[in-house]
Amino acid sequence: MADNRLADGVFSVGAKHWDRKIFDELIPLPDGTSYNSYIVFGSDKTALIDTVDPAVKGQLFLNLKKLNVKKIDYIIANHAEQDHAGSIPDVLKAFPGAKLVTNEKCSGMLRDFSLVSDERLMIVKDGDTLELGGKTLEFCFTPWVHWPETMVTYLREDGILFSCDFFGSHIAAANLFDAAHFYNHAKRYYAEIMSPFRNNVRNNITKVEKFRINIIAPSHGYIHTKPEGIMNAYKEWSSDNVKNDVVLAYLSMHHSTQAMAEYLRDALTDRNINVHFFNISGADIGDIAMQLVDAATLVIGAPTVLAGLHPVAMNVVYTANALRPKTKFVSLITSFSWGEKGSEAIKAALTNFKAELLTPVITKGFPKETDFEELDRLADAIAAKHREIGVLK
Ligand code: FEO
Repeated sequence: MADNRLADGVFSVGAKHWDRKIFDELIPLPDGTSYNSYIVFGSDKTALIDTVDPAVKGQLFLNLKKLNVKKIDYIIANHAEQDHAGSIPDVLKAFPGAKLVTNEKCSGMLRDFSLVSDERLMIVKDGDTLELGGKTLEFCFTPWVHWPETMVTYLREDGILFSCDFFGSHIAAANLFDAAHFYNHAKRYYAEIMSPFRNNVRNNITKVEKFRINIIAPSHGYIHTKPEGIMNAYKEWSSDNVKNDVVLAYLSMHHSTQAMAEYLRDALTDRNINVHFFNISGADIGDIAMQLVDAATLVIGAPTVLAGLHPVAMNVVYTANALRPKTKFVSLITSFSWGEKGSEAIKAALTNFKAELLTPVITKGFPKETDFEELDRLADAIAAKHREIGVLK
């Protein structure tokens, strides 16, 4: 536990889940994750900020033991999801004098999910403070980063923002303070967790910027001692800005869609457009989500099968739709044998996209010369749109 001190009397006591492979049975975790919990010692009272996933609660208790923690007065629950709140019942049991401090909405969820009882609860309002003795905690409600009840806790004297999911990253690094290479981890996390709530992210950035922040201490991954890096990244990702990038994600059964995808990839590259090229078969959905954060265009390549778009490709379409990226243009390249339904399927599925649908390229079987001309036409259309919005010169 070498990397545990944030300030005098403030320590990280969370757990690393090195070999966790997936989150919510949905999000791949190539680098594991951590559940950062923090302890704040005031001269009078001690507060624990968030707990850890029950699967690794032993690490939390071991870290508390190493710091010789005999008494916890307050357990702050910034968020009710199990990866942070799941060990609250165990901590309440181990520290019978502790009060569970949270907001009204979160308290209801904690009653439902973690079965906490009313007599242990202490409800706070937005802007309330809690005095520990030389350490003052201020509660700031930040809904929808990640759930409606989410809040952050600010430690005034040390300028530490305990932000829970907000500004997090899924990584179980040996030293979570070594955040120099945070960018891609945090961007992937943003894509998977925060992207659907982009407007709330923006509002909540504005809300927490009123604080003088020296350290951003999320409850996943890196701890940011240079907070401007992650703050600026969040501002950029949650802005309306897109890049001269195309996410081209394809799936092919008999190489026809593959031939189309490879041709379009090269045609776009020839037009000075950056292409993030994914074979959906075996691709990590988190990698695709990350590139969708600021790509101007999404192109799905998939064959028609069983009277619709291939279901494995539809999983990507469904996920992309759920993440509500700021993608401005979308199109489809598809190959069919006897009945084409893909373009109808993609239109029906992308209900959350405000993107303009560029005319798809549809081939019967393997693409012929005229089909490749159509792919050039699509590449030209994408280039023209990228020029129109000013991302391609
Ligand atoms: Fe890390 Fe929404 O829980």
